[in-house]
Amino acid sequence: ASRKLLLLPGDGIGPEAMAEVTKLITVMNAEFGAGFETEAGLVGGAAYDAHGEAISDADMERALSADAVLFGAVGGPKWDDVPYEVRPEAGLLRLRKEMELFANLRPAICYPALAESSSLRKDVVEGLDILIVRELTGGVYFGEPKEIIDLGNGQKRGIDTQVYDTFEIERISGVAFELARTRQSKVCSMEKHNVMKSGVLWKEVVAETHKAKYSDVELTHMLADAGGMQLVRWPKQFDVIVTDNLFGDMLSDVAAMLTGSLGMLPSASLGAPDPKTGSRKALYEPVHGSAPDIAGKGIANPIAMIASFAMCLRYSFNMVAEADRLEKAISDVLDEGYRTGDIMSEGMREVSTSAMGDAVVEKFRAL
Ligand code: NAI
Ligand code: MG
Repeated sequence: ASRKLLLLPGDGIGPEAMAEVTKLITVMNAEFGAGFETEAGLVGGAAYDAHGEAISDADMERALSADAVLFGAVGGPKWDDVPYEVRPEAGLLRLRKEMELFANLRPAICYPALAESSSLRKDVVEGLDILIVRELTGGVYFGEPKEIIDLGNGQKRGIDTQVYDTFEIERISGVAFELARTRQSKVCSMEKHNVMKSGVLWKEVVAETHKAKYSDVELTHMLADAGGMQLVRWPKQFDVIVTDNLFGDMLSDVAAMLTGSLGMLPSASLGAPDPKTGSRKALYEPVHGSAPDIAGKGIANPIAMIASFAMCLRYSFNMVAEADRLEKAISDVLDEGYRTGDIMSEGMREVSTSAMGDAVVEKFRAL
């Protein structure tokens, strides 16, 4: 089968991290017959410099026809003053919108070798492996009305509106239940039905979806504020957490800090399955940005980008054995003491971006 990948390295450390994934793709094609066909495009500041847009129509077309998109990072001080519509982030927003990426997957995995350096107690985070599924295209970030009204008495009123329709809750909970089946088969849904009507509907529709199609999966409900507390107190009680756009934004950042550096965190954004082929549009990207402070120095941690590629193998190509093997390679390399600067600690071996990538590739081949 041909597997079409569009690579959008972007700006700053994006291309440096993407180069390490390219090494993996080359090895997987040459030695494992993976059959990846890659194309490269421009996004963010790089696209603006080339043709005055944050992503060109041609690259947008490529993204829509690829099986998966690998995205590096966009932005940097060089483009701080470009017009708003073509600012670097607009490239990512356009991709999300046109690919209809409504499900954002943020795993929080604590590699054994890094459990010591977490901000939490070792026993709380060691062996942690949870997945937050955040609704990405609805809720209070997009609902109308959305405005600031001048009340005329020296007062203004800022308004955002939380809106969720049944189909939006059905499709995001469907993703969570399906993913749970490939893991520990547990979903916890988080909302605030005690104070929000959209929360009442959320809870109801998740429960109905569960009853109709996924009753083999264990479902629990938790108020989102209590969920935040439980994530810090004892995160290992969770497997998959499904939640709305706003709560998911915050809860996934909380979960991120359970596991250490931004340089370690992957993500995936999925669209609806194609009714004919069943395949989903998908974009994979590290959680971190373009890190202008370290760009060009060859010291960025490529693991977030490599782990995003592992998610791509797992979710877009159902290459489960290869994804497991790549994640094991990352874990083993950390066990052996390889560290980029952001995760460096005493007694470990500090290496460059490229050396870290090489170590993961070599481990992947040897496993
Ligand atoms: P950032 O994630 O780029 O960097 C925050 C801090 O973490 C920096 O000190 C950086 O050096 C460090 N860091 C991040 N990734 C790292 C890695 N792989 N290895 C080692 N250290 C790493 O966030 P910041 O500084 O707020 O934003 C910088 C630029 O990136 C801005 O232009 C921002 O708009 C953009 N950005 C883009 C995102 C995207 O493309 N999805 C997401 C977040 C920010
Ligand atoms: Mg956030």
